[in-house]
Amino acid sequence: MSLGKIIDKKNNDLSKRIDKQKVPEHIAIIMDGNGRWATKKGLPRTYGHRKGVDVLKEIIKVSKKLGCKTLTVYAFSTENWTRPKKEVDFLINLFSEVLRKEIEDIHEESTKIKFIGDLGPFPENLKKIISSSESLTRNNNEFLLNVCVNYGGRQEIVKVAKQLALKCSSGEINPNEVNEELFNSELLIQGIKDPELLIRTSGEKRISNFLLWQLAYSEIYISEVLWPDFNEFEFLKAIIDYQSRDRRFGGIESLPKESFEDSQYFS
Ligand code: IPE
Ligand code: IPE
Ligand code: MG
Repeated sequence: MSLGKIIDKKNNDLSKRIDKQKVPEHIAIIMDGNGRWATKKGLPRTYGHRKGVDVLKEIIKVSKKLGCKTLTVYAFSTENWTRPKKEVDFLINLFSEVLRKEIEDIHEESTKIKFIGDLGPFPENLKKIISSSESLTRNNNEFLLNVCVNYGGRQEIVKVAKQLALKCSSGEINPNEVNEELFNSELLIQGIKDPELLIRTSGEKRISNFLLWQLAYSEIYISEVLWPDFNEFEFLKAIIDYQSRDRRFGGIESLPKESFEDSQYFS
C-alpha cells in the first residue's frame, strides 16, 4: 500500500519526505488531551475519549502503510484511577465496547493485540474479552498493537525486581547473574525492540510513568495537537522530525570531523 498525498500549508507533500528505510519499527504513543478537546467544545470529557478511539484506528492504518511493525499506546495509567468514578467507569466500558466491535476487523487485518498492565482490578467482562481477543489474534504477524491499561512504569520495574528476588531466594538464579538481559526477560512487553520513537500529544512534556525502562534511548516528539485532533498529517510530521535526528546513543558520531583536541572547546 502506498502513502497518499499529505499536503502541508506550503503545498509540500509530506508523504514524499518520509524515508521508508528509516521508519521506526516500534512507536510508543501517550494519547493525551481527550478531556481538554471535549471541554473546549463545551462537551463532556467522554466525547473526547470516544473521538480518541477513531484517531487511534486511523494511526494504526497509517503505521501499517508506513511499514511500522508495532504501536504501544497508553490508554489508562495506574494513576488514572484517581479520576472521578464516572470517568473511570466510562473508560472501562469503552474498552469493552470498542474491543467487542473491532476485534473481528483487527483479526482480519492480521493484527495481534496485547494488553499490557495489571488487569486484576478490571471487571470480569473486560478481562474476558481481553483474554479472548488476545488468544484470537495471538498468531497474527502483520502488526502488533500493545494497549497499556492500568499500566505504570514504576510498578512494572518493581514487579521485575520482585520476580528476580524470588528467583534468587529460591536458588533458581544467582544474584550475580542479574543483568539487563535477565531484567528484560521479566518485562511485560517481550520479544520486540524498545520504541525508537515516543510521541506525546497535547503539548505536555512528561512521561507520566510510561515505559520507564523501555524509553531509555527513545527519541521524544511532543505534538501540540490534542489527541482527538491528531491525524495522519501530524503523525507524518512526527516521523519526519524523528528521521532528522542524530541518534548518538552516547557516542560522538555527529561531531564535526576535526579532532576533539582541535575543537574550540579546548583552545
Ligand atoms: C488521555 O486524555 C486519555 C486518558 C488519560 C485516559 P486525558 O483524559 O488525559 O485528557 P486531558 O489531558 O485531561 O485533556
Ligand atoms: C497519561 O496521561 C496517561 C494516558 C494517556 C493514558 P495523563 O493525562 O493521565 O497524564 P498527566 O496527568 O497529565 O501526567
Ligand atoms: Mg491528560
